[in-house]
Amino acid sequence: MTCAEKIRLYTDGIAERTGRRPGVSVTTFGCQQNEADSERLTGIAESLGYRRTDNEEEAYLIIYNTCAVREHAELKALSRTGQLKHLKERNPELIVCVCGCMVAQEHRLEDIKKRYPYVDILFGTASHGRLAEYLAEKIESGGRAFYPDSDYQIEEGLPVCRESSFKAWVSVMYGCDNFCTYCVVPYVRGRERSRRRECILEEIRGLVAGGVRDITLLGQNVNSYGKGLYDDYSFADLLEDICGIEGDYIIRFMTSHPKDATFRLIDVMAEHSRQDSRPRIARQFHLPLQSGSDRILRAMNRRYTRDRYLSLVNYMREKIPDIAVSTDIIVGFPGETEEDFSDTLEMLETVRFDAFFSFIYSPRKGTPAARMEQVPDDVKTERFARMLEVQNRISREKNDLYVGRTERVLVEGRSKTDPGMMTGRNEKNRLIHFRGDDSLTGNFVNVKIISADTYYVEGAFEKEGLDEQNEVQSH
Ligand code: 5AD
Ligand code: SF4
Repeated sequence: MTCAEKIRLYTDGIAERTGRRPGVSVTTFGCQQNEADSERLTGIAESLGYRRTDNEEEAYLIIYNTCAVREHAELKALSRTGQLKHLKERNPELIVCVCGCMVAQEHRLEDIKKRYPYVDILFGTASHGRLAEYLAEKIESGGRAFYPDSDYQIEEGLPVCRESSFKAWVSVMYGCDNFCTYCVVPYVRGRERSRRRECILEEIRGLVAGGVRDITLLGQNVNSYGKGLYDDYSFADLLEDICGIEGDYIIRFMTSHPKDATFRLIDVMAEHSRQDSRPRIARQFHLPLQSGSDRILRAMNRRYTRDRYLSLVNYMREKIPDIAVSTDIIVGFPGETEEDFSDTLEMLETVRFDAFFSFIYSPRKGTPAARMEQVPDDVKTERFARMLEVQNRISREKNDLYVGRTERVLVEGRSKTDPGMMTGRNEKNRLIHFRGDDSLTGNFVNVKIISADTYYVEGAFEKEGLDEQNEVQSH
């Protein structure tokens, strides 16, 4: 009997006894890559006879898929893990599994083993496909099981349970070889490896046929796509091939590295982001800058300069004048002086990003930057607040430009903060609220923008579908 058959029998047994299939609850910490992994974990659990639930109280299998990129994310996952003790006491049959980037670090794995005896299964980022095996071993032996990552293979064909019926993540490559000195990712997700292009194209064909409208290609460094797999096939080629798949959908990608993003990639975007192009590549580019100081970029091992960064942004704007550019910035990297920080502020003013994600530097065990001279915490938080002030002003000014325009919005559902409003995003990922009803969810609609805020704009529903003439003109 295979492990999957064993688990199927086991879940059938619980279903017979309780009158309901046993619940599986999967919680994701961290980035989109983790969300995509969680969709696979849920898909596998469903294929083994579990029923997906958001209610941990009724779960027979709880999976925490963790993040290690900053300490805050780790502490959150550990604190949630601590709260599982009482659930395990109430239901001794509950299986608790903690996995993902945090667990891929040996010191955390050891720590969880010791401090949380009710965690049954621990594994890292490399072996989701072996969940059935892990569960079978747990059920048969009754003991706890720990699986440090050993080999990082690509696992094709795993079942996926997608959160959304109209938005989807598609991983194109995994791992990272860049070793930015602050970053733990290369240590927890292993070396770069790309999926075969035919697997990616087939997955996207299936998604589009199933009605998916918004597809984000994922990778730690998508511009490395194909390295070690193809001699002469780049990420830009992949994008072109994807655009050959007919349908009314938008394609996005993240994350790009400024040292690897190519002018040809921007040319391909320009070609396939025209108003009349269907499908089309979103007129949006996420390009992490991390710091505006060349000295700090060197210390971060980023291998580009602010000039190189600016030349990419200028080329994008020349080719696609209304492109939305977003970025990631780290404040308080070791050795960052007031002058380095002003360079970053100056870059914010020069580029005028449409959106930015900012982080206070968090030392990560085992990375070179953690061993460098640290910036005091109060300096980091003070700089962080100053930077937010600058970007909030810019974001607000950029949002004000939307007022009076009509935007094509993919409706995501009811707003969490105001259930009277529907919420969605335009091609540029701008958050847009408007009054409407549930029937619009998952569709493209036109919304006339009436007012703007720092983080979103608000408008009035005009009609479903597309009106080419009303589409946004350049900013
Ligand atoms: N501290 C703070 N931010 C970090 N990031 C990565 N590592 C760290 C760290 N140690 C940020 C980078 C990256 C984003 C996903 O997280 O800006 O682009
Ligand atoms: Fe981390 Fe740098 Fe790789 Fe991004 S490119 S995952 S920041 S090491």
